[in-house]
Amino acid sequence: MCGIVGYIGKKPAFPILLSGLKRLEYRGYDSYGFCVLNAQNEPFLYKRIGRISDAEKELLDLKVEGNIGEAHTRWATSGAVTNKNAHPHFDCSKNIFLVHNGIIENYQELKEKLIKEGHKFNSECDTEILPHLIEKYFEGNLEEAVRKALREVKGTYGIAVISKKDPQKLVAARFSSPLLLGMGQDETLVASDPTAIITHTRQVINLDDNEIAVINPNNFFILKEKPLVQIEWTPEEAEKGGYPHFMLKEIMEEPEAIENAIRGRVMVEDGSVKLGGLDVIAEKLREINRLILVACGTAHYAAQVGEYMLEEYAGISCEVDIGSEFRYRKPIVDEKTAAIFISQSGETADTLAALREMKKKGILTLGITNVVGSTQARETDAGVYIRSGPEIAVASTKAFLGQLATLAMFTVFLGRQRDMALVMGKRIVSELSKLPELAKKVLKLAPEIEKLAKKYKDFKNFWFIGRKYNFPIALEGALKLKEISYLHAEGIGGGELKHGPLALIDENFPTIAICPSDSVYEKMCSNIEEVKARGGPVIALATEGNEEIKKIADEVIYIPKTLEMLTPILSVIPLHLFAYYMAVLLGKDVDKPRNLAKSIVVE
Ligand code: F6R
Repeated sequence: MCGIVGYIGKKPAFPILLSGLKRLEYRGYDSYGFCVLNAQNEPFLYKRIGRISDAEKELLDLKVEGNIGEAHTRWATSGAVTNKNAHPHFDCSKNIFLVHNGIIENYQELKEKLIKEGHKFNSECDTEILPHLIEKYFEGNLEEAVRKALREVKGTYGIAVISKKDPQKLVAARFSSPLLLGMGQDETLVASDPTAIITHTRQVINLDDNEIAVINPNNFFILKEKPLVQIEWTPEEAEKGGYPHFMLKEIMEEPEAIENAIRGRVMVEDGSVKLGGLDVIAEKLREINRLILVACGTAHYAAQVGEYMLEEYAGISCEVDIGSEFRYRKPIVDEKTAAIFISQSGETADTLAALREMKKKGILTLGITNVVGSTQARETDAGVYIRSGPEIAVASTKAFLGQLATLAMFTVFLGRQRDMALVMGKRIVSELSKLPELAKKVLKLAPEIEKLAKKYKDFKNFWFIGRKYNFPIALEGALKLKEISYLHAEGIGGGELKHGPLALIDENFPTIAICPSDSVYEKMCSNIEEVKARGGPVIALATEGNEEIKKIADEVIYIPKTLEMLTPILSVIPLHLFAYYMAVLLGKDVDKPRNLAKSIVVE
């Protein structure tokens, strides 16, 4: 979610680091920093909030000497966006400088231990424990200290480290966060993403998990021999991770979005979740008996799924509204009501207006947000970050999955404060933990869904139907399709068909029916029959193993089995893919649909 560049060689390091960071900025980073060691091993350390492109001229004027250095662009996932929280982070004696991508799950525990041992911390960032741990183990050899330090760490990391005390060396290590070495003539670059170095070299070595690379100006070694790989992407393709569009890249990141949301937060043995952002208000939440969930667009559909989850498993009465309506209502609230605002950007004007209205009423306000330090995150009393990473395509995809996974955790949190039994808590969190793998399996359907899109691309109208947990997914499937392909698509609850919409059904009006094997499966089958009886083509989304459905649907897409409340997290993935392929086949500007913008900061 952040970006790393490192350099060691014969050329001045700073301009190379600067151009590498600039190439990573397409992801929308919020702060950046550099550390370069000069010939006397004195560090030049520079950390700033903001966008690097805005400060480029000023940075180019800085006279920075030295042939070894590291740089970082940050997309905050914990700790506010401040100069201090920007990387590189350093140890007590400012000898060790480190940049990091990933999340250190046990940083609180390690930080407390290190503070007791006399370490002084300078930031709120989880990364800062790393240089201090390395300092603790440092006895003259940097890679040895890095190796010992990483043994204590739980979480994910891609790191680059340099030290005044063991100079002319750059140490890089990875676990579950990509890192590669770019091999040039008498120089080596380190990067989290090929985009950062592609204009410099195309010869790379990808580090594997648990590998530590030690790089000197003239050579390097890692634990295993690694083959050289040729990058075939153009710089433009590299920005999108090799995908033709950000939207497809972000759909492909959906398993990771679930994983990032739940990492370090679900405790299967306890059947509970730990949401650090709610610690301060945990006791107040016990008193709450009514929740109002407010959001716009896709985030509003996440809120609707949340309503089903919270009512069924936490036993709390919920009400969901769109920001643009809620802000003009006169909701009746009391001290036992809390409001939850859901927004990827944290800047949506209507959601913020609703939030401010609720603050005036004095009720507890919570946020479920992707962008750290956004207005929503700052103005709510407490909240949970979904940690989906930057979402660039206008149509929201992976953040929706992050929001759903977070709402499921929130349900367990509130449920366990109330009547939810240990076994039920265990069941939900253990099924939730399996979702990243199941989501990867669903993504393998991409070629099948592309074929389906080819077959249906000339239809002009689509119904999406679903019930209960998958009713909001029908709305999301329709929104995504209309938003990027400009086709007419409508989502409705299956039970509503006979109250009007059936009149439109004929052989030119296909219906996409979301009907996993759940408590409303039979009802959905009846709805499919209603459509078929009027000649409408039906594409069904069903649970693996359900052969019966083939008798009533024209096409079937299978998703793996999971708990009913979690099915939306899997069923929405084929719908995102379907919308994407339809728009591509129709030649639309997928990442930037007409008339729309990513963040709606006006009413
Ligand atoms: C649809 C979409 C929008 C957003 C909505 C809210 O694909 O992206 O409907 O979901 O504008 O945006 P956030 O979540 O930033 O508040």
